[in-house]
Amino acid sequence: MTQTNERTFLLIKPDAVQRGFIGKVVSRIEEKGLKIVALKMVQVTPEQAARQYACHKGRPFYDSLVQFICSSPSVAMLVEGRDAIALCRKMMGATDPKESPPGTIRGDFSLDVKHNLIHGSDSPESFAQEFPVYFRDDEILNYHLDLERWIYYS
Ligand code: RTP
Ligand code: MG
Repeated sequence: MTQTNERTFLLIKPDAVQRGFIGKVVSRIEEKGLKIVALKMVQVTPEQAARQYACHKGRPFYDSLVQFICSSPSVAMLVEGRDAIALCRKMMGATDPKESPPGTIRGDFSLDVKHNLIHGSDSPESFAQEFPVYFRDDEILNYHLDLERWIYYS
């Protein structure tokens, strides 16, 4: 059985914050049954964006991506739950919103590959690399979600 305490890093990007979608995105995470263990608004710096997107350095879209992520505040969050990484990627939808089915965050609210509303770690390795860009260990809360026994059978 997979772990119920896998963590992922999500960034609600500047376009989603500007469009008033913080609540919508956070609601979807909560409604799924995932546990939010850290959350804050951040004005991403170019240094943070470069660390977060280090794997894309040199790609044609890299400079524009860094500029976009730093263009206005974002919301950084850590989310915990069974298969949290894969599940959140599924809830986000594909990178290109044209490929994202309705029902996903990008599929429902986004039209453009850059303005695609949300970032999510795509593997445990990227999570390990990304979350320290935004959170110290003492900002992550360990707590029991009382509803969990109604969310997980075992
Ligand atoms: P993210 O890292 O933001 O969660 O997005 P992702 O995994 O779905 O996509 P990734 O391939 O990691 O790309 C990172 C972000 O770069 C922008 N992008 N633009 N062809 C393009 O113009 C292009 N390709 C990627 C997107 O904003 C994408 O989310
Ligand atoms: Mg990515």
